[in-house]
Amino acid sequence: MKRLISLFMIVAMLAIFVPTTFAAPPAQEGQDYIVLAGDWLSKIADKYLGNPYSWPAIMALTNQKHLTDSTYAKIINADLIYPGWKLYVPSQEEAEAFLATYDKNKPELLYATGAKGQLVVGSWWTAGGEAEGLNEMFKIYSQKYPDVEIVNATVAGGAGTNFKAVLKTRLIGGDPPDTFQLHAGLEVETYSPEQYLEPVDDIYASEGLEAVFPADLLTLLKYNGHYWGVPVNIHRSNVLWYNKAVFEANNLTPPTTFEEFQAVAEALKAAGIQPFVLGTKDGWEAGHIFEDVLAGTLGAEKYKGLWTGETPWTDPGVTQALENFKMMLSYANPDHSAHTWDSAGEFLIAGTGGMMIMGDWTDGWFTSKGFTGYGWAPPPGTDGIFVALSDSFALPKNAPNAENARNWLKVCGSLEGQEAFNPKKGSICARTDCDPALFNEYLQSAMVDWSQDAIVPSVIHGAAAKESWVTDYKDVITLFVASGDVAAAQAGLQQACVDAGVCQ
Ligand code: GAL
Repeated sequence: MKRLISLFMIVAMLAIFVPTTFAAPPAQEGQDYIVLAGDWLSKIADKYLGNPYSWPAIMALTNQKHLTDSTYAKIINADLIYPGWKLYVPSQEEAEAFLATYDKNKPELLYATGAKGQLVVGSWWTAGGEAEGLNEMFKIYSQKYPDVEIVNATVAGGAGTNFKAVLKTRLIGGDPPDTFQLHAGLEVETYSPEQYLEPVDDIYASEGLEAVFPADLLTLLKYNGHYWGVPVNIHRSNVLWYNKAVFEANNLTPPTTFEEFQAVAEALKAAGIQPFVLGTKDGWEAGHIFEDVLAGTLGAEKYKGLWTGETPWTDPGVTQALENFKMMLSYANPDHSAHTWDSAGEFLIAGTGGMMIMGDWTDGWFTSKGFTGYGWAPPPGTDGIFVALSDSFALPKNAPNAENARNWLKVCGSLEGQEAFNPKKGSICARTDCDPALFNEYLQSAMVDWSQDAIVPSVIHGAAAKESWVTDYKDVITLFVASGDVAAAQAGLQQACVDAGVCQ
């Protein structure tokens, strides 16, 4: 009888201590796991990774997650895990990668090490609003990775006028920053992504980003089958800003057509106010306004067709758009070549200027200046059209601190990052799950428009065309601002399309 009992006990003990199966379960994705009563690490490893001896991977990767997200448990003793704790059970691939480097004589490998070194972030966000938005994301990053030194490597010049050339030299010279600002869309082509950039598809997968960005944005972000940047926002190019007090004092409402624009401009002029203010100092601002004039003259579909070859640049609509723009320029401040987009905005704040067309980073800028007396409307002809662009951050090949950069991209894509960044930046989230209550009235209106308007791509801000075409387009418009020669400008725009290989 005694023998029988001890045999029974041996069998029972075997049942407890020897894993029931070593057969690998089907490959699985990394997942969160809440500890249940009666769980222990090797049992979980056996169930999810097909091997009880893979438990160190669960412990190490859970501890790594805990560093940046305290909802994950910190496992100090492998034998002590408690019901309700959140663990991270890695994918087979992640577990194998860890175990290949794990040495059981070095228990320190089971505990996480925080990120160190630098994070060099390249962008052109130096103006009020945009600089503050960036700083909000830096704060979040620093909370998560307190030992990483952030280097804010900005090069001033709106729309990346100066930044892009500096970046290109650094990429080609094998001396890149760790991450840099990149517009979603064809701009990526400028940087020969296959040669100089790392695809970031794995970050989309690990952060679940495909589920939180709109489908159209994902399409814009994918180039040659890969994602090359993580978007932080959606900006609107076509906004007409006006000084509310000036408009009220003169009984004016924002113009919805080009004829109305002229009438409003005449009234402002008669009141001694500069009707239309702009800066052309950085060479892109006039091209920016003209893209909105093109959309407002041609309509959404024909505007889009300009960048795909479906609408010829010889179209009479383009002639009309140039005429419309010429009319608008006749009301502009004569010293525009001395101004940038933001210094031109000072006229509006001072009430010496009436209207201005610029992207909605202007909302962030006004807010940073404490100016609340601004109104907004779609520029003439663009009611129901949203000329869109998006800023993302990319990962160069051979980034000196690639791991830090990857963590930065995760912050960029996160809800926390986007909710902190965008209200200051004057943009709306690229994510669809941000809380509208965090945004001001203008941005809330932009969210509504984004959800219902016809979305067309901005050319000046990298979405619609490759960089060489953007440059040619910009140059033609710069010449036009000086000459007012409609026929020459139209021929130049047509030639730019031919040179881009899109028109015949
Ligand atoms: C755009 C960029 C915006 C804003 C603007 C002015 O190209 O997408 O985020 O910074 O330039 O510099």
